[in-house]
Amino acid sequence: MSSRTDSRANIAVDGPAGAGKSTAAKLLAERLGFDYIDTGAMYRALTWKAVQEKVDVHNEQELERLLQEMKLVMKPAGGEIDIFADDRRITEEVRSSEVTNQVSYTAAHQKIRSGMVEKQKRMASGGGCVMDGRDIGTAVLPDASFKFFLTAEVEERARRRHLEQLDKGIESDLETLKEEIASRDKLDSERETAPLRKASDAVEIDTTSMSLEEVVEKMYKIITKRVNDYE
Ligand code: DC
Repeated sequence: MSSRTDSRANIAVDGPAGAGKSTAAKLLAERLGFDYIDTGAMYRALTWKAVQEKVDVHNEQELERLLQEMKLVMKPAGGEIDIFADDRRITEEVRSSEVTNQVSYTAAHQKIRSGMVEKQKRMASGGGCVMDGRDIGTAVLPDASFKFFLTAEVEERARRRHLEQLDKGIESDLETLKEEIASRDKLDSERETAPLRKASDAVEIDTTSMSLEEVVEKMYKIITKRVNDYE
């Protein structure tokens, strides 16, 4: 970010699965010289742990125990974020379909959410973070200096995931992805605790027909314009 911008600012990026949040948030963070925090990866890491320990993701109490016991570390590594659970690198494992298909259940528990939100608030307490998730603008960082809510049509989100998977050499079926995304949307927006919703003061960007670069540019312009307007 330009030297004129408050480096203590935090930026919240929310939206449904596959709207391009994480890549856009990561690039925005790089451009601003901020830290990038992927909160979805935290729920995924806990889900991965549950799978390992054969804990049912519907069992809130057992999940809470795992969350308390688990050492969860996120480390920047060459433009990406490496995720470690109890010192084991699980960056790729947290993206497996086994984890992806269960993570919405993990994220629906009230106690799990409050434990995660507390960690996330701590991670952002020094400012200078771009944090992406579902409840960042509403629950984790309600006072964030900038809030964005990225959306895109389901078909487009599925198409992006599909290309991403193929690119990584992961087997992928577009129709299945569409169904999975629609089902996760439903679970994430209808859950009782902190459902996915746009903060009233967030800027909504429909990314359906935008390139990643255009999305990042738009966010960057909004931030720098507002900062410059204040000066
Ligand atoms: O962004 P993602 O696909 O990695 O998120 C994984 C899951 O975690 C998704 O089902 C929504 C949930 N999540 C959440 O409830 N709150 C967050 N702040 C981040 C993710």
